[in-house]
Amino acid sequence: MIALVNNLHAAVEACANKDDLKDLLVELVEFTRKHFSTEEKLMEEYDYPDLATHHKEHRLLLQYLIDLVDAVSSGKKLTFCSDYDVSTDWVLIHISECDKSLGAFLNSKGVY
Ligand SMILES: [Fe+2]
Repeated sequence: MIALVNNLHAAVEACANKDDLKDLLVELVEFTRKHFSTEEKLMEEYDYPDLATHHKEHRLLLQYLIDLVDAVSSGKKLTFCSDYDVSTDWVLIHISECDKSLGAFLNSKGVY
């Protein structure tokens, strides 16, 4: 996922065309969706206490990325700091913070 985010940032910095940006974003959305789905299955299986909050955050993050795909597709001019950075940082912060707690919980259940 970090590689996908780095690719997106590099493309934005290089002023890539709309189609290339959209392809990179769609790839990030698809990867994120799979990542979230895997987590949600584990949270349900092991009765994770913060499942509802975590699940809600997943939905918001995914929708934010999907909205970004729609904006790029419609030709809207996006800016690096206010659009791409916010969305990708948001996802990475979720993984480094919320998912870290989930990881510790799953480890306590013998899941590695
Ligand atoms: Fe998560």
